[in-house]
Amino acid sequence: MASDHGVIKIRDYDDNIDKIRIQNLERICKVGQMAPFLLMDTMGDPICRIRNSPLFKMLVAEFNNELVGVIQGTIKIANCCTNLKDIPSVAGYILGLRVSPLHRRIGIGSNLIRNIEECFVANGVDFAYMVTEKDNEASVKLFVDKLNFVKFSTPSILVDPVSQYHSKSISPNIRIMKLTTDKAESLYRKFMATTELFPYDIDNILRNNLSLGTWIAYHESGFRSEFRSDSPPPNSWAMLSVWNSCAVFKLRVGKAPITWKIYGKTSRFIDRVFPCMKIRSLSDIFNRFGFYFMYGLYCEGPDSGSLVHSLCQFVHNLARKCKDCKIIVTEVGGGDIEKLKVHIPHWKTLSCSEDLWCVKALKIEEQSTISELIRCTHPRTIFVEPREV
Ligand SMILES: CC(C)(COP(=O)(O)OP(=O)(O)OC[C@H]1O[C@@H](n2cnc3c(N)ncnc32)[C@H](O)[C@@H]1OP(=O)(O)O)[C@@H](O)C(=O)NCCC(=O)NCCS
Repeated sequence: MASDHGVIKIRDYDDNIDKIRIQNLERICKVGQMAPFLLMDTMGDPICRIRNSPLFKMLVAEFNNELVGVIQGTIKIANCCTNLKDIPSVAGYILGLRVSPLHRRIGIGSNLIRNIEECFVANGVDFAYMVTEKDNEASVKLFVDKLNFVKFSTPSILVDPVSQYHSKSISPNIRIMKLTTDKAESLYRKFMATTELFPYDIDNILRNNLSLGTWIAYHESGFRSEFRSDSPPPNSWAMLSVWNSCAVFKLRVGKAPITWKIYGKTSRFIDRVFPCMKIRSLSDIFNRFGFYFMYGLYCEGPDSGSLVHSLCQFVHNLARKCKDCKIIVTEVGGGDIEKLKVHIPHWKTLSCSEDLWCVKALKIEEQSTISELIRCTHPRTIFVEPREV
């Protein structure tokens, strides 16, 4: 493609010649408009965010032989966008779009997206979807106004700092049990298979080395025998899985207000000296840090809120054992899961109340399904994939 200033070439990522150049590009591209913002360190592996997906692709844009843009895409079979029929679809996820600040507004971003869409179509993808911050005007205008993506959900990203110095308490009446991957898989297939974007290869996710495990919580008194997937569950129960994102990439908060830094240092000092006070200390997120991602959150029953809370406390205590893990992240939204937010410990300042998910039908016959999805007044719960974080 030619622009007024030169020729834009889109091609596949080549590890031998692009690796360093991509890292430099990532360094100068901040995502979102406002400070503070997140900077990502891929630890020398530019495709770390997609390599765990069943199929993936990374494209780069060159402008006068300079690497000026990048985009990534993954493909999976998932339960997609269907209120009427729960049948598997081929879903393509677009992520990691970056264009060098000196080369913006000359069509590079839109070109990269069109190219990844072509790649999706060639692989039989029914729907493409992407996620952006609601306030990222450039991204929203590009995907929604220019390229006809439609907004379909705004789940919340909830972030909770990990205290190095104190653990969180869990009620002695609540039992937390780790499931085998087989058990976890059968429970997910039984209870979450109709969730929006539920991955059909959930077994691959659960068996991945980055998946630290799946735990369920239930009241000791309400259920005496061992939890079995083939027997009726207790009255109230909750389940979640944990993914070790620390081993994939690192983050750093840039341009944070000075008050955050002062609060961070002071609160950590008090927490270290008086751990028994269990104060809410802000972990060091201003230097490189990693995080655990909680996914596959599901619960049932009248007491499920307290069980979800206990599971989150448990994950916090697990995360304390990992030196690099400074925060715990989860993303929840749509359907009844909205009500659970109050039970998931998080800091409002660090969280994002509305992450914007957009979708586009790549096959004409799927357009009516998309219209149905947008019209739906009670959006269904989304399964947020740890491989796509
Ligand atoms: C978002 C981003 C990829 C856009 O790349 P780009 O190459 O400048 O995009 P394009 O030139 O193809 O722009 C196409 C259209 O998008 C919209 N757009 C792009 N940047 C915009 C901006 N800063 N403000 C408003 N609209 C914008 C416009 O409609 C534009 O068409 P126009 O130039 O004819 O008005 C780039 O700004 C970027 O890398 N930002 C930082 C990383 C990021 O936020 N990535 C998105 C994460 S989902």
